[in-house]
Amino acid sequence: SNRTFTMIKPDAMKNGHAGAILDRFIKEGFRVVALKQTKLSEEKAGEFYAIHRERPFYGELVSFMSSGVIVAAILEKANAVADFRTLIGATDPAKAAEGTIRKQFANSVGENAVHGSDSDENAAIEGAFFFSGLEQY
Ligand code: GTP
Ligand code: MG
Repeated sequence: SNRTFTMIKPDAMKNGHAGAILDRFIKEGFRVVALKQTKLSEEKAGEFYAIHRERPFYGELVSFMSSGVIVAAILEKANAVADFRTLIGATDPAKAAEGTIRKQFANSVGENAVHGSDSDENAAIEGAFFFSGLEQY
């Protein structure tokens, strides 16, 4: 597929990086299909990250992701999922390559500025979690 789903996480929102991060998405050739600012309840964050519920960091992850507003977006580009994960860099910003968004804007493995879907299937599921078909252009 040519779409992926992303969130600008609460750390990047609080640090004032949303504009710069969105600008980077667009400059790297991603078209914005859908976009909104919202805040996840703990319940909604838990549901979004349910795949990680057995992991030791699940509680921390859910509490962090519901700690402030986020920006959610669907993005379109050829090879979107893989190219977007290359653009954001490794989960741990200390291991992220130079020039990646996490290298530039993330603070820690937990508070790592952005989310990117890990497969076409999850991109579709995650996009539909936030946006109806009528909100996608
Ligand atoms: P996402 O794009 O956010 O899904 O990141 P990812 O695919 O690079 O990482 P993964 O799906 O494995 O983990 C999901 C999220 O859980 C990460 O982005 C982090 O926010 C958080 N996370 C992963 N590992 C740790 C950890 O060791 N400690 C904490 N506190 N959070 C973690
Ligand atoms: Mg992931």
